[in-house]
Amino acid sequence: MSLLADGFSGAPRAGARAKTAWKARAWRELRDARARLLGLLSGLPESVLVRQHSSLMSPLIWDVAHVANYEEQWLLRALGAPALTDPAFDRVYDAFQHPRATRATLPLLPPEAAFAYAARVRDAVREHLEDGLPEHTDAPLLVDGYVFGMVAQHEQQHVETLAATLQLMTEVEYRVPASRLRPHPGPVARHEVFIPGGVSPMGSRHPWAFDNERPAHARHVPPFFIDAHPVTNGEYRVFVESGGYDDARWWHPKGWDFVRAERLRHPQFWLAQEGRRWLRRRFGQVEPLPWDEPVQHVCWYEADAYARWAGKRLPTEAEWERAAHGSDGVAREHPWGDAPPTAERANLGGDAWGPLPVGSHPEGRSQDGVWGLLGDVWEWTASDFTPYPGFRAFPYREYSEVFFGDEYKVLRGGAWASAPVAVRNGFRNWDFPIRRQIFAGFRCARDGR
Ligand code: AVJ
Ligand code: FE
Repeated sequence: MSLLADGFSGAPRAGARAKTAWKARAWRELRDARARLLGLLSGLPESVLVRQHSSLMSPLIWDVAHVANYEEQWLLRALGAPALTDPAFDRVYDAFQHPRATRATLPLLPPEAAFAYAARVRDAVREHLEDGLPEHTDAPLLVDGYVFGMVAQHEQQHVETLAATLQLMTEVEYRVPASRLRPHPGPVARHEVFIPGGVSPMGSRHPWAFDNERPAHARHVPPFFIDAHPVTNGEYRVFVESGGYDDARWWHPKGWDFVRAERLRHPQFWLAQEGRRWLRRRFGQVEPLPWDEPVQHVCWYEADAYARWAGKRLPTEAEWERAAHGSDGVAREHPWGDAPPTAERANLGGDAWGPLPVGSHPEGRSQDGVWGLLGDVWEWTASDFTPYPGFRAFPYREYSEVFFGDEYKVLRGGAWASAPVAVRNGFRNWDFPIRRQIFAGFRCARDGR
């Protein structure tokens, strides 16, 4: 064992082919994910950790042991390291065995034991990563450290899920920094960008891309216009205040049934006040609704209805991805290029505790001048979650394959709560069209010529 105090050194072993050193990055990503997970939950009493705050979400502590169990399965057992727990134990933390609403009734590890389990798995992973695994091998799980990237992204996805649970929670106020670093870009020109038709890259070449992003391929995309910015609270408010929720003309039939049945009048967490002043609850605090931020906590049906009211439509995911890569047809990892995300390029990683005003990230613009494609809010697209031609489930069917079909809509681009490691131009997220608790908004598009 020779680990730097600060983490894993990743120094290539004598005789190793010095190609990509994935071990150092893998360890860093695992460490960052865990720091975020623990930071999010630190200071919460046991009673809050074990409670079911919403029928849509797991008890917070289920997610903790779930990510640990997933890590045990994929970074220990699947890679030939000794198991720490009996595989029978996996069932408690198997998302397919128990719907979220029932998880509080399971024999869950109590908080202290759950955190200890996660730490114990991580210690064993660190040892196995350093001493038990080759840096270079043809084993599919280990090429470029794939399975480590998968586990790090999985933990970050659950951190985002935990953030959504904390936003839903009302029994206790979840404290976020009262004042946040908030750029003031000033008014931005609300315009559309014309994207000429052409052959466009689709899918990810990144070695840590999930199975549903592959294989990377080319698509012909007809010309279209796409909004330069996501739809803001201020724009969405006009739809709300002009009776948009009372007019069936704008709504998909199923969306109309949904808003009627649920008596929806506005995005989730907006608070209507007399005198037409709008507030919102953001975690534990109520504050004026900022007009210049992308609207969030709208479901697909709300996004679809707004777009129709505005005389537009949602972009397909092929259009969204063409806008992200650029109309020159070059495949890029991010809208600005292959360089990694920074605070100047995108609002990611959770520290902003919400979306930032549109226009805050000029350095994150795409080649064609489309802003804010990554970060701030997930963007609903018009598309169903379906496999790309040549799709092969890897390394397990339940990550993507079992969700393919017309029940789920694709979201693109990541939110303020998404980690940089878990977003890229080709990344695909999906959810039911009625879901509002996720950090989702949208932008509009229309046919071009
Ligand atoms: C890709 C965000 C839809 O949270 O259901 C977490 C990610 N898969 N654990 C989800 C995931 C397994 C997934 N989403
Ligand atoms: Fe999971």
